[in-house]
Amino acid sequence: MPIQTHANAWILETQQTAYVLGLHASGRLVHLYWGPKLPFVSDYPGDHQWTIGSRPLEEFPFNGPDMFLREEYPTSAGIKFVEPCLKTRFADGVRDTQLQFEQAEILSGAVPELRLYLRDTVYPLRLVLHYRVWEAYDLIERFVTLTNEGDTPVAVDRLWSAQWHFPLGGHYYFNHLNGRWLNEFQLLREPLIEGAKVVESRRLTTSHHHNPWFAVDRGTTTEDQGEVWFGALAWSGNWKLVAEVTEFASTRISLGLNDWDFSWRLDPGQSLSAPGSLAGYTAQGFGEASRHFHDYVRETILPHGNTPHKVLYNSWEATLFNVDEESQVHFAEIAAGMGVELFVMDDGWFHRRDSDHAALGDWWPDERKFPNGLAPLIKRVNDLGMDFGLWIEPEMVSPDSELYRAHPDWAIHYPTRPRTEGRHQLILNLGKPEVQDTLIALLDRLLSENNIAFIKWDMNRNVSEPGWADAPGDPREIWVRYVQGVYRVWDTLRQRHPRVTWQSCSGGGGRADLEILRRADQIWVSDNTNPASRLTIQAGFSHLFPAATLESWVTDMGEDFLPLDFRFHVSMCGVLGIGADLRKWSDEDITAARKWIALYKELRPVIQQGDCYRLLSPFEQPFSAVQYVSKDKTAGVLFAFLTHRLDPVPPLIVYPRGLEPERLYRIEGFEDTRSGTAWMNTGIALGLGSFSSTVRRIWNASPA
Ligand code: DGJ
Repeated sequence: MPIQTHANAWILETQQTAYVLGLHASGRLVHLYWGPKLPFVSDYPGDHQWTIGSRPLEEFPFNGPDMFLREEYPTSAGIKFVEPCLKTRFADGVRDTQLQFEQAEILSGAVPELRLYLRDTVYPLRLVLHYRVWEAYDLIERFVTLTNEGDTPVAVDRLWSAQWHFPLGGHYYFNHLNGRWLNEFQLLREPLIEGAKVVESRRLTTSHHHNPWFAVDRGTTTEDQGEVWFGALAWSGNWKLVAEVTEFASTRISLGLNDWDFSWRLDPGQSLSAPGSLAGYTAQGFGEASRHFHDYVRETILPHGNTPHKVLYNSWEATLFNVDEESQVHFAEIAAGMGVELFVMDDGWFHRRDSDHAALGDWWPDERKFPNGLAPLIKRVNDLGMDFGLWIEPEMVSPDSELYRAHPDWAIHYPTRPRTEGRHQLILNLGKPEVQDTLIALLDRLLSENNIAFIKWDMNRNVSEPGWADAPGDPREIWVRYVQGVYRVWDTLRQRHPRVTWQSCSGGGGRADLEILRRADQIWVSDNTNPASRLTIQAGFSHLFPAATLESWVTDMGEDFLPLDFRFHVSMCGVLGIGADLRKWSDEDITAARKWIALYKELRPVIQQGDCYRLLSPFEQPFSAVQYVSKDKTAGVLFAFLTHRLDPVPPLIVYPRGLEPERLYRIEGFEDTRSGTAWMNTGIALGLGSFSSTVRRIWNASPA
């Protein structure tokens, strides 16, 4: 039974874990337990201890009783100073929210859900806390819905998705992803001490700088063992995460919509939902935490599920905006000869787009470059046996474009301020339904008239002057309404063109999160295609996202010090693509590419659909290694890299993971057949030289 009630508590059990919350004698909903599943329902702790030492409430009057509680969803009420999840302002000026529990409801089904209904003690405001139990993935999903049941508007200044509590008294480490353009998903780790640590996005997108993912451990956890509490927010706009340690030994992480410059006018009868936050617990280290998320992403949210992705070619780094029918056909012919399956034309194809100074918004083919439209190019690509894909950047408008000249007010701006351009472009206000409808019509036409199998949806600047003169509510709603608009455009196009595969790109990995992955099947994780940099970017990304969502190109970046094989090996750790200038590749390069692409196709099910084991971290040492194992454990592959010049190079011993202990395996490059246990405990010696890499297949050798 995934959801049970016992002595004023609700017990949510997944395959391995339990999450328990209860109704405290004070009427507050409190957190009671999150960790391994316990044998008996009566094992779970009951009412929360709210004494500190032997003296209950000794801190009063400086800290009210609520300071000692671990409330599931604290509001700003009472003598309490922890981060509240909800902040409201009522028409009469009252600025706190005092919620009372009313009733609980348990919904059965494939994903059982607990709903807890709360209402303000004075004002007609209702809050529903939702807890969905993803049993197979050991994940709990939380979100909330706030409804104004009165007849005057209520201002919502903060609406977070969840506060996650870790066991009392612990000393924890906070692992998170940090970075910037060209250097996304860098793993950071720091101790949590009394006070609050904030990471957030104020950029309108998820951001290159921080990602709404966390993992919390007690300091000794490794990839393979130790406790981890991990989670993420499913939202593609401004978000905020606060990791807080109180002076009363309580550590918690709250996350949700960013309340910076935010307020929402909740009109009578209206509801506002906070995005989902998914979180889980494992005692098997960071690797297992990632694998839970990988399975969840592949099996429950990706639009095309666990379908393998094709090897693509894209000429962006080779040609920039300089595309036309003839040159693209030339690239397509070479790419097809190497075994590429999907040919994608990037920026530069649409009306008068010769540089980044003009044309965004005019989404029809440039008559000079494609006099007969895209059809002849697409036909040639299809005849070569490849699918055709196209780049778009729908949220943007160039001041020098027909769209902007017709609708200057559609750009996000303050009427009295200059409009700051980023990459010579402005952002369309996708909060406006008329903007959404126009984009839907333009892109629907493009997709209906052409045989397009893949779209790369880009977004190349962050926001400035976030005004909205004729906003339907509070202009600060733009942060949420914009993202809802992006979702609506994307969802409508997906619905009308279900066959199309989509990629989320925002100048690289600026928009990678669990909610965009309901629309996009993959992420362009970075504009940095230098394989040495890619190793850390990809390793950081893998903490939350599976390899099937990681598009990775082999380009000419890094060619000065890293061989082509190395560059292929790095990209083969995700969805392999080629982005090099093929006109410059020698016959040997093309032959090597053909070989690696063929091997990738063979290994693709293991890499994209199997389990990922990070064996050696590129964040910690010049060697790094990653391994993938098929779900049935009959096949695997291991990649290892040395990105530095070491003299002499120390021996590299790698210990494979994830093999079935009793099954016999062979590993490429070694003569012996051994059990999984043997390989995992004796390891393999890989003779890597400076700036080199290796790929080793792992085969089942047990008799059928
Ligand atoms: C940024 C993307 O990340 C690149 O791959 C490329 O598509 C350019 N935009 C095109 O303008």
